[in-house]
Amino acid sequence: AFASFDYDLAVIGGGPGGYVAAIKAAQLGLKTACIEKRGTLGGTCLNVGCIPAKALLNSSHKFYEAQKHFKDHGISFDNIKLDFPQMMKNKEQAVSGLTRGVEGLFKKNGVTYLKGAGAFQDPNTLTIDNASPIRAKNILIATGSEPSQVPGGILPIDENRVLSSTGAMALKEIPKRMVVIGAGVIGLELGSVYSRLGTEVIVVEFLNRLAPALDLEVAQSLQKILVKQGIKFHLGAKVVGGEAKPDSVHVKIEPASPDSKNVPDSIDCDYVLVAVGRKPYTQGLHLDYIDVSRDKQGRVNVNDHLQTLRHAHIYAIGDTIRGPMLAHKAEEEGVFVAEHIAGQGGHVNYDAIPGVVYTHPEVAQVGKTEEELKASNVPYTKGTFPFMANSRARANQEMDGFVKALAHKETNQLLGLHIIGPDAGEIIMEGVVGIEYGAAAEDIARTCHGHPGFSEAIKEACLATFSKTINF
Ligand code: FAD
Ligand code: NAI
Repeated sequence: AFASFDYDLAVIGGGPGGYVAAIKAAQLGLKTACIEKRGTLGGTCLNVGCIPAKALLNSSHKFYEAQKHFKDHGISFDNIKLDFPQMMKNKEQAVSGLTRGVEGLFKKNGVTYLKGAGAFQDPNTLTIDNASPIRAKNILIATGSEPSQVPGGILPIDENRVLSSTGAMALKEIPKRMVVIGAGVIGLELGSVYSRLGTEVIVVEFLNRLAPALDLEVAQSLQKILVKQGIKFHLGAKVVGGEAKPDSVHVKIEPASPDSKNVPDSIDCDYVLVAVGRKPYTQGLHLDYIDVSRDKQGRVNVNDHLQTLRHAHIYAIGDTIRGPMLAHKAEEEGVFVAEHIAGQGGHVNYDAIPGVVYTHPEVAQVGKTEEELKASNVPYTKGTFPFMANSRARANQEMDGFVKALAHKETNQLLGLHIIGPDAGEIIMEGVVGIEYGAAAEDIARTCHGHPGFSEAIKEACLATFSKTINF
């Protein structure tokens, strides 16, 4: 049967995991196809995720700054108007430019782009809608994820009044009052967008804290800052029912624990954003036909080489498997799979994957949180430095937030870096490189940093893990 393969690698899904794997594989000399059913490449991230969210965050931040902060810099206007359709158009241009760019990269690298939904006919054969099936020596499942619903059939997403992130980024009007279910990354980012545009945003979160993936101290600081910006939070509250009418939604709420305070019985609003997490999407692939197993959460089971357990030539990556649902994590795994198939080593360091929340200020982290170090009994020292004492932050009037460095108590090896503050999502990379290279916090503290710069706060926080800060 060997001789009859059409491709060395067929990738199902053209998101950041799949498209990067396909390009890398083609560059390594493998005959590669990528199957995508959406009509455009780039997956969730480029079409309905990272990119449109960041475009709207950037635009809404400019509007907010113009309204609230330009006057501090001596800049004033007679009146500021918001052209919401233009803001949406700007977002769509960012998306279409990038998705077409990926198509160009496929041409440049010789990846065959097959449009349609792929499904397994047997372990080496894929059907693609009505086109003739293809046979591939290796197959990569990179079909991503979809929004989770509120359990119990409560307020099912209809993209009319009850929205997922996709619907929330395609609205025709600015909501008057929006209830956001879930204070995770999507809730905080898209909640920020609409709050800045004038919507009354009320976040209902099951846990008694926001953003469970973040270091607790950082999450608490973020909460205070977002409350100052006008976002309301009901923490320790659960949605127990609700009804979507043609132009409004009634949301019923209860305290989730006896300690929860001031939880109202219900809230009426014009839109609800459901942001309670995402789940792997493998529907229609016919994984059961070929015995590709999944765990309880629907994630495809893979070994350390990202191979499915029953078939070594079928791999899975990105949002379909375990680990953080992040575009750059999917990309690293895509490169790993291409290199593994080409007979090379491959490398993904799961301890050095940054996470960024694009609120204002941004939040960024890499490595372990303080709670994780405590739970695993790792002896550590902690160094912190507030942006209040950073000269660039003072010059820019952006003094909210701090840096926290966590280092091993005996070796001073950098184990975690947590930043809430200006450009956190960019300056975090210093910590990512540090952790990747096994640096001590002292290595960063002794590295000369450009002055005045936000990253000097990282240098000082690292200094504080073994000595005293200079500027605070
Ligand atoms: P996806 O990007 O989901 O791509 C999978 C693709 O497979 C889809 O295009 C789908 O159409 C296609 N597909 C599915 N089944 C089939 C089939 N049978 N045949 C053919 N094609 C199929 N991550 C970040 O790192 N940074 C961010 O700022 C960020 N912001 C986000 C904002 C929002 C609102 C959302 C929803 C997500 C965000 N994410 C962010 C997460 C990020 O989008 C995902 O982690 C990433 O897209 C996962 O990549 P993937 O390649 O695994 O899957
Ligand atoms: P999330 O996992 O970040 O947050 C979900 C939140 O909802 C949690 O705080 C959880 O406790 C809460 N929750 C769950 N069920 C609930 C219920 N019934 N009632 C009330 N609260 C409930 O998921 P989110 O925000 O939906 O994002 C999905 C994924 O997309 C994330 O895992 C993230 O990796 C990715 N993403 C990444 C971004 C970034 O990197 N900047 C931006 C947006 C999304």
